[in-house]
Amino acid sequence: MALEVAGSNPAGHPNSPLTIASSGHARLGSKRTVDWRTMSDDRWDAVDAYTTALLQPADPVLEAAIRENAELPNIAVSAAQGQFLSLLALAIKARRILEVGTLGGYSAIWMGRALPEDGRLISLELNPQHAEVARRNIARAGLESKVEVRVGAALDSLTTLKDEVGEPFDLVFIDADKRNTPEYFSAAVDMSHAGTLIVVDNVVRQGRLTDSDSDDPDTQGMRRLIEQMGADRRLTTTVIQTVGVKGWDGFAFALVVGT
Ligand SMILES: C[S@@+](CC[C@H](N)C(=O)[O-])C[C@H]1O[C@@H](n2cnc3c(N)ncnc32)[C@H](O)[C@@H]1O
Repeated sequence: MALEVAGSNPAGHPNSPLTIASSGHARLGSKRTVDWRTMSDDRWDAVDAYTTALLQPADPVLEAAIRENAELPNIAVSAAQGQFLSLLALAIKARRILEVGTLGGYSAIWMGRALPEDGRLISLELNPQHAEVARRNIARAGLESKVEVRVGAALDSLTTLKDEVGEPFDLVFIDADKRNTPEYFSAAVDMSHAGTLIVVDNVVRQGRLTDSDSDDPDTQGMRRLIEQMGADRRLTTTVIQTVGVKGWDGFAFALVVGT
């Protein structure tokens, strides 16, 4: 069985028909291989490998974190994306960072390293086992005085955080369960100041974002998020699609310009 998809091939020219076999693999031209189940492409991986080797050179702390994370789901950001988060934190001189979704602390280490001496990152994680791995990784990175992992459902942790009435956050990275993302985003805006940057991972979902008939709660969550972002006049927003070792996905960005 083969499926003919025209105009929806992320790897090739938009007008090139892509023939997909029942194996899930498709050939386009002479060299291109696309796996429609994961929408991955070996050229995306090759570009990430090439640039990462030059721009994110070997780092024993991050490599140890990746090794520890091997027992966890493989859903951390890539090295390039981690550096991107770090770069954003440095660019806006973030002193207070909030992360929703810690996993093994890989992205937290990247962002934590961008903090100044008096900076602080709070990362929220539901799974105590993930939090334990994260704390070990964060300690190995020498960041335990700056990075705190709080265990619990993020909706509850965010309510507690709001009640603490601390300083607003400068940077928020939302990367937990996708169905609750709009609620996480609202809480993030509530704890922002003019100039806060909010970044949300995995909004494009291999193109499923455009499926208005989807009954997948994660897709619905991301669709609600984008509608919410577009309707909020306090924000300047965009979505940037990405390809690479993490497949085809994308980040949403919101800069708080009014409160
Ligand atoms: C994509 S991973 C985070 C990856 C991490 N940001 C990184 O790049 O290294 C998502 C994490 O969110 C956590 N999570 C899922 N549902 C959650 C919830 N309701 N509250 C808090 N954390 C949750 C999962 O246990 C998982 O560890």
